[in-house]
Amino acid sequence: MIIQSKNNRQVLLQRLTADDIDKLTGYFQKLGTETLKRYGPHGFDKQSLSELYKNAGNHAAFIAEDTETSEIIAYSVILSGYLEHDSFRLQSYGLTLNHVTDCTFAPSVADEWQSQGIGNSLFHFMLADLKLNGIKRIILWGGVQSDNQKAVNYYLKNGFRILGEFEYYGLNYDMILEIN
Ligand SMILES: CC(C)(COP(=O)(O)OP(=O)(O)OC[C@H]1O[C@@H](n2cnc3c(N)ncnc32)[C@H](O)[C@@H]1OP(=O)(O)O)[C@@H](O)C(=O)NCCC(=O)NCCS
Repeated sequence: MIIQSKNNRQVLLQRLTADDIDKLTGYFQKLGTETLKRYGPHGFDKQSLSELYKNAGNHAAFIAEDTETSEIIAYSVILSGYLEHDSFRLQSYGLTLNHVTDCTFAPSVADEWQSQGIGNSLFHFMLADLKLNGIKRIILWGGVQSDNQKAVNYYLKNGFRILGEFEYYGLNYDMILEIN
């Protein structure tokens, strides 16, 4: 799907395939320190990415590409189910976790492309796919730092609610979206 960003650039939204691993490695190499402080769901080196995406496993990803350069400018990862090491905390909010209908989500947009509507567009593109695959809830991957105002606003804007908070290098929120 092609969309137009707020700065009038044509952007292609699609699912990541194993052929995109080199381009994706390049995307992570260019991420700025501000974004890297906020984003780190998994290793960003080529080997880690190949392991995640070479075999159809429990990870899927959605990317946005600048149609002029074909470079990846945004990446969102989805894990089927939930992170085992977060399960105790998530259950403490009264959630009954489900490996089939829950998924876990972590979005990112390249620094120079942030606040141009790409994150929102990629989210809606991804949501349509998740609905078709029977997903009922989206849980944040390791929560969100409470002082990451851009991301907290982005999640609230897209219908997420705060489940609770926890300390990990500062205050973080666990958030969830129940899909109708
Ligand atoms: C959080 C992130 C994914 C949002 O994507 P984005 O493309 O920048 O966001 P969009 O332009 O689509 O805007 C979506 C919403 O986010 C919020 N937002 C975006 N830019 C903002 C800014 N500069 N200040 C405050 N809120 C902002 C707004 O609520 C906005 O909705 P609106 O345009 O209707 O006001 C992106 O900024 C990012 O990658 N940040 C760094 C990595 C990160 O924090 N990831 C999440 C880790 S939990």
